Amino acid sequence: VSQLTPPKDYRSQLLEDVFYGFTAYRKYLPSKYFYDGRGSELFEQITELPEYYLTNAETEILAEHADSLMARIQPDELVELGSGSSRKTIMLIEAMYRSGPGRRYVPIDISEDALRAAAKELCGAYTWLEVEGLVGDFVADLDKVRRRGRRLIVFLGSTIGNYVPTLRYSLLRSVASALDAGDSFLLGVDLVKDEATMVAAYDDAAGVSSEFNLNILRVVNRELDGDLPLDAFEHVTRFDPISSCMAQSLRAKRPVVANLKALDLAVSFVEGEEIHTEVSCKFTRSQVEQDFADAGLAVDDWLTDSEDRFALVVGSGG
Ligand code: SAH
Ligand code: TRP
Repeated sequence: VSQLTPPKDYRSQLLEDVFYGFTAYRKYLPSKYFYDGRGSELFEQITELPEYYLTNAETEILAEHADSLMARIQPDELVELGSGSSRKTIMLIEAMYRSGPGRRYVPIDISEDALRAAAKELCGAYTWLEVEGLVGDFVADLDKVRRRGRRLIVFLGSTIGNYVPTLRYSLLRSVASALDAGDSFLLGVDLVKDEATMVAAYDDAAGVSSEFNLNILRVVNRELDGDLPLDAFEHVTRFDPISSCMAQSLRAKRPVVANLKALDLAVSFVEGEEIHTEVSCKFTRSQVEQDFADAGLAVDDWLTDSEDRFALVVGSGG
């Protein structure tokens, strides 16, 4: 495991992002800051919730198609964006071993703890696998990954949905420029469906989504020497039919004044004021085709689960 983004760059970026986010007319925090060690663990718990259908649906597609996909793509290396626990990716890694010469796995994640744990587990389980874990931001750092042969870029979990259209466009552009002729791209996207199902996935009965959302305030407090009171905020999630995105925020239950010493900043919230923390956009096939075309990517195949909840898009550089 090596660092693409040095810890001091992570911290100075965080300082800048929190300053802009907390001084904006509508307060917000970039969702990548959910994921410290604890945040990654909470996300893993989310993937096991009965309401969070995304992981099961994507696992179903991978179980059915991993072998035929890898036999067709024959990558020498598998580069994964936002790999987290790499749990689902194991199916692709095993299929890669069975179907061709590929023995290299390059997971990129901002969560060093999650990446180290996954890399350790994989190296133990698959002695033939060369793992080069990269701690960094897959938006900023993808072009720094050195290539070794035919490449498959994997981006699972509908993490692409956490990017609003403009940022999604630049992300897909950087994927396109990291692909050569003959390379492939595998993208997991959550599909638009009935609102109740989507809302339940982000507002589970056990309250794990709420804990996960609040964790971003813990990260800010720790890194910026702050005193944001977690108990003064509540988890809010709603579906916006105009953008087809779920939007998560933290709402102040009472007036709050907090200090962030590292920024020398006092932040105040009126009762009911929200910090926007994440969008999870939901897709249709035509939306994905449009987004790919805009970025110069081609959709080569579209695989869904038996209930049409989720899609795995097979693409290539135009
Ligand atoms: N791929 C896994 C995890 C999805 S959660 C799955 O499908 O279950 C999103 C993952 O992306 C987390 O592990 C988080 O740490 C990582 N992540 C989010 N934003 C990131 C960014 N900008 N750069 C690198 N990693 C990021
Ligand atoms: N990337 C996940 C998603 O979009 C993140 C997530 C799941 C999330 N549940 C959440 C974010 C609850 C905030 C609150 O599905």
